[in-house]
Amino acid sequence: MIATALLALQIGATQRYQKVAVVSDQVLASKVGADILRKGGNAIDAAVATGFALEVVHPAAGNIGGGGFMVYRSAKGETFALDYRETAPGKAFREMYLDKNGNPTSESYLGPKASGVPGTVAGFYAAHQKYGKLKWRDVVEPSVQLAERGFAISPSLADGLKDLASKNKQFKGTWRIFGRSGNFYKAGETFRQPELAKTLERIRDKGQSGFYEGETAQAIVDTMNPGNGIITLQDLKNYKPEWRKALTGSYQGYDIVTMPPPSSGGAVLLMMFGMLKNDNLKTMGFNSAATVHLEAETMRRCFADRAEYMGDPGFVEVPLLKLLDPNYLAKRRSEIDLDHASPSSLTKSGLNLGNEKQQTTHFSIVDADGNAVSNTYTLNDSYGSKVTVDKGGFLLNNEMDDFTSKPGSPNRYNLIQGEANAIKPGKRPLSSMTPTILSRNGKLFMVVGSPGGPTIINTVFEAILNVTVHNMTAQGAVTAPRFHHQWLPDEIHYEPFAFTNDTLAILKSKGHTLVKGGGQGSCHVIVIGANGERYVGCDPRLSTAGQDGY
Ligand code: DON
Repeated sequence: MIATALLALQIGATQRYQKVAVVSDQVLASKVGADILRKGGNAIDAAVATGFALEVVHPAAGNIGGGGFMVYRSAKGETFALDYRETAPGKAFREMYLDKNGNPTSESYLGPKASGVPGTVAGFYAAHQKYGKLKWRDVVEPSVQLAERGFAISPSLADGLKDLASKNKQFKGTWRIFGRSGNFYKAGETFRQPELAKTLERIRDKGQSGFYEGETAQAIVDTMNPGNGIITLQDLKNYKPEWRKALTGSYQGYDIVTMPPPSSGGAVLLMMFGMLKNDNLKTMGFNSAATVHLEAETMRRCFADRAEYMGDPGFVEVPLLKLLDPNYLAKRRSEIDLDHASPSSLTKSGLNLGNEKQQTTHFSIVDADGNAVSNTYTLNDSYGSKVTVDKGGFLLNNEMDDFTSKPGSPNRYNLIQGEANAIKPGKRPLSSMTPTILSRNGKLFMVVGSPGGPTIINTVFEAILNVTVHNMTAQGAVTAPRFHHQWLPDEIHYEPFAFTNDTLAILKSKGHTLVKGGGQGSCHVIVIGANGERYVGCDPRLSTAGQDGY
């Protein structure tokens, strides 16, 4: 499928391996994962090892204090979706982030009260218990070593740590550990994290309970005060990941396996492919005005439905069957006017039922047997709640901001959300993370995912179209500039160079508001070639990203 002639036309060469590939936002973490594969581990072993290593080398988003989603497809085609999303603590309540005048406060995203109960360690432990091949301690150990011995700080991490610490001196663990009490780390210096190494040792030696009970659990609870944090020892002990049936669909002969709620990502992705199944996007062309208009109108409608109907399926009924019904999607498609933008104020959910830097992180892995892991996990914002568990050496998430603090008021990602996503104890906030795997004729074809809040869904959508429809290489598909529409605000956000001036003029004439922004996401893909080769598309938007394999 990847014609050699096309390669020359692509931006950046695609790295190719014969047997295994790991690609993530930090090349050191990719190497940890690939080393696990070299030692005979499988894709799950490598995923767990890569995930723990990202906690050490990519603290903005790699985490043990957050949560996420893993989608897996075995070489034989068995699939699972693992939900290790944070949960609202037992003391959480619907209006917990409203001031006395009913306005949303910063507590949903800054400080100890912003954290949901972390899910990452429990998720990794569950995945490894069920599918791991190597010993648990052997997949955690490389991260203990990385934290203990340290690694050279990249220029971007040096900037990030300085920014984090200087703006958040009030959180003493953050100031001391990441800001070195004002003697900020410089690029090239070795970053050792002794408290984190000890925390990882406890996880290595005791598994899940090494985090959710004992010293680490107590350290998390100690961090809750002062600052109105509400996570208790009981909340931590109660945390459970959920095994879910992966959401499946298809597009142009490709079978898609993706994440179900409480992420909206997979459902919105499949809705968009369903709406566009009869459109010839190839003839319309990559990022032509016609293509962008049609895709943006599709995004607008699916995001309107996201806001209205999606939430944690353990608490609300998400009408997935209706949303994914081909007749419904055909009707939604027929509502699109090819010449005019539909204002979002008039584009409602369609079922008849009754600026700050943001960061999440994604990695894709394929092992020698062809088992694949697509994993996206996060602290939500870059460095989460900005609160570091002082004695534990790790940051906590601010995932509570993904809930609806107040219906009709935008959250950190300008998402207007609904009742279905209101706060309740034990509930998981609605996510946009979209770890996804494609196969064709029963064979693994593509592993894909990205950070970027709500833009994640569109980034994944566009990366898949770039490969399957526009015949781009793996690298070309992730390098190509992207755009995003999320219903409200009613704007197409686009990356520099995404559109030519004449394309912009046509889109404006159709009634779109266009906003030029910075980079959208950090999408890492692996595409399997006709002879089983693993082609890696490593997103160039983050300077530390990289791949390893053989
Ligand atoms: O779960 C979500 O959708 C968000 N918490 C993800 C945030 C994110 O991707 C920030 N990254 N760039």
